[in-house]
Amino acid sequence: MAPSIDFNDRMLSLGLARVSEAAAQASAQHIGRGDERAADLAAAEAMRAQLNLLDIRGVVVIGEGERDGGAMLCIGEEVGTGDGPEVDIALDPLEGTTLTAKDMPNALSVIAMAPRGTLLQAPEVYMDKLAIGPGYAPGIVSLEMPPAGRVAALAAAKGCSPADITICVLERPRHEAMIAELRGTGAAIRLISDGDVAGVIHCAEPGTTGIDMYMGSGGAPEGVLAASALKCMGGQFWGRLLLRTDAERARARAAGIAEPDRIRARDELVTSDVIFAATGVTSGSFVQGVRREPGYLTTETILMRSKTGSIRRMIYRNPLK
Ligand code: FBP
Repeated sequence: MAPSIDFNDRMLSLGLARVSEAAAQASAQHIGRGDERAADLAAAEAMRAQLNLLDIRGVVVIGEGERDGGAMLCIGEEVGTGDGPEVDIALDPLEGTTLTAKDMPNALSVIAMAPRGTLLQAPEVYMDKLAIGPGYAPGIVSLEMPPAGRVAALAAAKGCSPADITICVLERPRHEAMIAELRGTGAAIRLISDGDVAGVIHCAEPGTTGIDMYMGSGGAPEGVLAASALKCMGGQFWGRLLLRTDAERARARAAGIAEPDRIRARDELVTSDVIFAATGVTSGSFVQGVRREPGYLTTETILMRSKTGSIRRMIYRNPLK
């Protein structure tokens, strides 16, 4: 009998990097061309083709859409060769479609893989999110604290003044009150127009990115991807689904989520070891975007495993055919 393959298998994790590389490369021709849909479609097609070469029995739990939406790589789609470990897949072939169409920073192709049944199948609703980087005692900030209280607690833990804290926030009308409260503390705010997976990852490398904390609401599926990344990098993350209508509540029920209003910590969103890969589409603070030179495309990918805490950065220069 062939030995069973653990999803932590090192070669398999390298295969995951190829998946996000392929998606980023495919979207590269759409950077700055103003067509979000074309960029997303190209990334999804390339991601699916590479994913289906991996020796896994994979099921998409975070994908391009819900089961009945007819989208490629939708929730429930089976991926992989059908040999190998049973795994959950969370993916976003193009996280930041508008960033890509407008050639703005921090668009990524992202994918996470974990043993079957261990990634929360978050419905397409908003999630209230809070993240900080590694090195702090557990729970020094919480979603239950008011925004200003989080700044005060983080500043105390870091041994600095609130004025030395920088928070990343999605610039949305729904965040106006929170932004005003944060400004009242003297903290700095880095407003981003899109891409909160990258926003959360920024917290894990504050020395490089200048970001100490992420907060605010964004897509729930992106929350599971961000939690996967922080599980590898060592930061803290909490999310609470924001269910505004009966239809959204029904979506959470359909996804099998018990206690949908509960705050969930990182390890409740991702309950086992996870592997995470992100390739830059447009350049940002922690990975370079796709570079186009005559005859070549070059990508940078960050590939991480929570089991080992290893973080690998890979530059891939691919001759154009
Ligand atoms: P897309 O890549 O699907 O365009 O999502 C980008 C994004 O900014 C996410 O990073 C974020 O979670 C979500 O959209 C926020 O949603 P909204 O634009 O409705 O505030």
